[in-house]
Formats: sequence, structure tokens, C-alpha cells
Amino acid sequence: MKIVHVSAECFPVAKVGGLGDVVGALPKYLNQVKDTEAMVVMPYIYNQFTKSHDLTIDHKAVLPFGESLLDVTILKNDDLDFPLYLVQIEGFSHRHQPYGYDDDYHFYIAFQTAVLNWIHQWKALPDVIHCHDYHTGFIPFMMKYCHQFPKFREIASVFTIHNGEYQGIMGKNMADYLPWFDVWQFPLLVWDNDLNAMASAIKCAWRVTTVSPQYMKELMSQGRSIDDLFQQEASKCLGILNGIDDQVWNPATDENLVKNYTVKDIKSGKAANKEHLCRKYGFNPDYPLISFIGRFTDQKGVDVLADAIWQAISIFDLPINFLVVGSGDLEMESGLEEMNNYLDERYNTYIGYNEAFARLVYAGSDFMVMPSRFEPCGLNQFYTLRYGGVPMVRTVGGLLDSIIDFGDEGGTGIRFIHLSSEDLLHAFQRAMYLHEDEKNFLSLKKNNMKKDFSWQKSAEKYINLYQDLIN
Ligand code: GLC
Repeated sequence: MKIVHVSAECFPVAKVGGLGDVVGALPKYLNQVKDTEAMVVMPYIYNQFTKSHDLTIDHKAVLPFGESLLDVTILKNDDLDFPLYLVQIEGFSHRHQPYGYDDDYHFYIAFQTAVLNWIHQWKALPDVIHCHDYHTGFIPFMMKYCHQFPKFREIASVFTIHNGEYQGIMGKNMADYLPWFDVWQFPLLVWDNDLNAMASAIKCAWRVTTVSPQYMKELMSQGRSIDDLFQQEASKCLGILNGIDDQVWNPATDENLVKNYTVKDIKSGKAANKEHLCRKYGFNPDYPLISFIGRFTDQKGVDVLADAIWQAISIFDLPINFLVVGSGDLEMESGLEEMNNYLDERYNTYIGYNEAFARLVYAGSDFMVMPSRFEPCGLNQFYTLRYGGVPMVRTVGGLLDSIIDFGDEGGTGIRFIHLSSEDLLHAFQRAMYLHEDEKNFLSLKKNNMKKDFSWQKSAEKYINLYQDLIN
């Protein structure tokens, strides 16, 4: 079975968020299954990875694109656990990142067209084309209806939604850039009177998945017009919880830690990493350390977290350290930094994205807080468990599906329901008491480290799904 993953991000080539982690891990685990061959196709990015790795030219093409022509080069690299193909297209922004350019919408239509045009010429066609997020959302439509791709009619398409907030909503005139199709198929590209890449994928893909079962339920009932579309297509929709690459995320071997550790020496291991963080930031090592790592976007609830931290320190005087790590919205960045001027040494920030440092924070923190407004899956809760910490999560999306409250049978974390300072403060208090109860806290951390959220299990679910489609 041959599966092509098409994505805007893939770790370690280029990663903005969890999408990169997933696309960098799932194909690797699929390839460990007998008779399965998985590869990744993504845009060429001008960065350290592409500069420092051998790339060979696999294919060259010139394609029509609106009124102009696309000059396409497909480059191949063999250094990862799956074949990697990078699509370079002349005439668009010099991309140092997957997104954030004025021509994103144009670029991703060109990218999808170039990918399909290339695959269509293969001698052995893939069994499944697996698309990730809206940047690849027109592929299922093109496979079914564009005249230049007749060989794709019988090939399965899967579309995975990692974040339903980004739908690729654009003017209808953008359809002029798609390869030729019969005009009466046009409604399959549209939702709410705009071109909508995600909606088109929901309509046209053979299967639509989200990265947790709960998130799929939420997408069907958010009170937005697109709920109807999910409900209408419910029979082909399902949620499969993400996993993590436990070889890449392993406190026993992670070079970014001050001290490596396993379940056996978790106590001294975590303490050494925590001490390092405490020294760096002036925290009191006797207090619990609650950290946040993430993008500063509305999704992550960091605005409410800031308010709760403010109250925890300046009003309730709780003996807790807080470290907020991340970057994103500039106003949130400066607001979180500004808080440093008013709160004492119990609070600090690291503004920026630095994966090496993030790993040290997983190792050195007692708790990781995730007050998300919505969370398709979330990966930080898994990284937290893997590094022997305790996740504190709001009960939404994948967080609800993956973390049980420590007060219940088999629990691993602290759950709270509302995105409010009150619920967060209550969770902080519970964390404090748990931290004081040394014996139980240690045994919870040990159990957490032993939990298996690796990709093997989830990869199997994807294999079953592919198999289903092929049969
Ligand atoms: C997005 C989602 C996150 C998910 C990740 C990988 O970043 O926001 O919840 O874990 O994609 O699927």
C-alpha cells in the first residue's frame, strides 16, 4: 500500500505547530508496518534543513496557472525515515516559512496543482493521497473533477483537519487558477458564498478525519454554518487521536536536557532540570513550577491564563512559579512581558520559539497548563506525560479525550471545564496540594511517564482506514 502525505509542514524540515510534528512522525510509523510505503510532499522552504541536506532533482515541469505558467521543480531527499519531496515553484515569495506571505492562497493552489500533475505521471500510482489542513484542501476536488487527472478517479483521498479555524476562505475568482473542470461542479468548491478549501475537502474527500474524536463532535456543533456540512457528511467523518514520536521525545536521550532520566531516576532527573530553570529565572525550587508552552493565539487561551497568573500571585499570593513560553500575537507577547515589571520572581516569560528550550521546560516543570479555547488534539499533554510531568488541561477536543483527572481511576492530570480565571485558580490550588503530597505526586509522575501515547497505536488506525478505502 502506497500513501502520499501532502502537507505544508513536516518536522524536521519546517514546523510551525503540531501539524509539523504529526506529518513528520506518522509516515515514519506507517513505514514500519509491513507492505506499507509512506512518503511526504511539501513546499520547498529556504531554511537550514534544505541548505544542509542533499537534494536531487526528481522532476521538472512547466504548467499553466491562470494566465501565466508555473516553473516547477520537485526535489528529493532521503535522509528521513520516509522519502521526502519538496516542491519548488518559481515566481512566488521566497519562502523561509510555510506561511505568512501575501501570496499564500495563490501559492498553495499552485502547489496542489504541481503535486497532482507530478503524481499523475507516476508509473505506479499511490493507493491513497492523504491531505492535511486547508493548504491541501482542493486536492480531493481536483482528483475527482479536473479533466487533466483522469487516473485519480479511483484513488482514495483522505483529508485530515488539524485546525478547523483555518479554512482557506477566498474569493470565488481564485477558482480561475485551478486546472480545468466542468463548471457545474463549481458548488463543490464553495461554502457561504466564498471559495472554501476546507469545505471543498469535506465534500469531496473519501474520508475526513480530525485529530481526536471529541474535536469532530465539536466541529459538528459549534453553532456555525459549517456544522451543517459536517453533519451532512458525518458518515465519512471520524476522529483519530494523534500520537507522539517517542524516539524523538525521550527524556533518557534528549540532548537538550541538563540531565537525562528514566522512570527509575525520575526524581533526581527532573529535579536537576528544574533547578536549572529555577536558577535561570530566579524561581524558588521548593515551589511547584507550572509552565505554559504554545503559540500566543486565541486558541491557546493564554489571555485568560495571564489574568489567572496575575491573580494567583498578586491577590492570592500562592507559592507557585509560573513560566510562560511562546510567541505569536504581538500584543499578547508584550502584555505577558510587561507583567514581569509588576509581578515578583514567581513569574517569568520566554518569548520566542525554541524547541530545544521547550524540551528543557517539559523536563524541568512539575505541571504544564493548557487552557485552550479549542484543541483539535494537542500534543503538549503527551510530551508532558512522556517527560514525567502532570498536564493541567481544559476539557475540550483532544485534551478531553486524552487526559483523565488524577482524582479518577487511571488519572494522569488536572482537568478543568471553563476557560475562566476561577477555574484556573482552582486548578492551581489543586496542583499546589498535589505537589505538597510528595509520595502521591511522585507515583503519579512515574505512572505518567509509563503511559504509551506513541504513534504505533494511531498509525494502526490509519492503516485500517486506508485498507477500508482500498477494499
Ligand atoms: C494543530 C492543533 C493541535 C494538534 C496539531 C496536530 O496544531 O491546534 O491541537 O495537536 O494540529 O494535529
